[in-house]
Amino acid sequence: MALMTGKRGLVTGIANDYSFAYSIAQSLIREGAQCLFTHLPGEKMERRCRQAIDQLGIKDPWLMPLDAGSDENLDAVFAKIGADFGMIDFLVHSIAFADKDWLKDGKFTSTPRQVYTQAMDISAYTYAAMANRAAPLMASGGAMIALSYYGAEKAVPGYNVMGVAKAALEATNRYLALELGQKNIRVNTISGGPLKTLSAMAVGGFGDILDWVEKKAPLRRNIAGSDVGDASVFLLSDLSRGVTGQVLYVDSGYSIVGL
Ligand SMILES: NC(=O)c1ccc[n+]([C@@H]2O[C@H](COP(=O)([O-])OP(=O)(O)OC[C@H]3O[C@@H](n4cnc5c(N)ncnc54)[C@H](O)[C@@H]3O)[C@@H](O)[C@H]2O)c1
Repeated sequence: MALMTGKRGLVTGIANDYSFAYSIAQSLIREGAQCLFTHLPGEKMERRCRQAIDQLGIKDPWLMPLDAGSDENLDAVFAKIGADFGMIDFLVHSIAFADKDWLKDGKFTSTPRQVYTQAMDISAYTYAAMANRAAPLMASGGAMIALSYYGAEKAVPGYNVMGVAKAALEATNRYLALELGQKNIRVNTISGGPLKTLSAMAVGGFGDILDWVEKKAPLRRNIAGSDVGDASVFLLSDLSRGVTGQVLYVDSGYSIVGL
């Protein structure tokens, strides 16, 4: 039997087939999971997301628009999941946003309040906002993951306010794990290595980061989306039943290197 047989959950964050969420859904589906999806509102966003889901082999997907900055949108998505299915087993938070004008080397100190708070809202708070709505649908337990990056703990030139938001996301991960553990809901985060996605291209000097990791990481290569996809299966399946509140590095080992 496959690892996710009989499990159903929500996967947020598929913009296209380069997205981490795409690779995560691919691995989950391969292991027998049923995935429900959301896309950022807008005709173009929906079309690209549908194309990617189609490539996953799902012809009639459960798909709803979601701007995670809107409580009404969040309420609507989880209410519809409750009405349609009653319960879910897992949640994938694979979204983030910061104004790219402030994701450039030398542009952190002058970050405007609105840019800072929006990055924190969409990239960190929404993990708690989703968890709060998903938990009642996980009456018999469940598992959640979000996606972080090394810039949460070290200052990476150009990552700037997104690094601050990822630090908040990793702390949010721990507090959610502490509270939801009593309901047998596990909460973890994957710290992924750099991957060329739409969001990543907004980070100034991203190409240099890829080159550096390839040279310095113990595995001497950059990660593939499928590396994170398969690690997600571990964290969302019963294989990791004793694991919660953790940040799992899927980064070719880059984060352990001193020099
Ligand atoms: N690509 C990398 O190098 C890298 C490394 C580590 C972690 N991550 C993280 O992985 C996650 C997924 O990003 P990705 O790299 O796959 O890029 P991506 O651009 O493919 O995905 C980002 C997603 O966030 C969604 N999003 C943005 N604002 C939103 C909002 N207000 N409401 C709902 N959805 C919204 C977008 O629609 C998109 O689907 C993010 O949390 C990102 O920070 C990325």
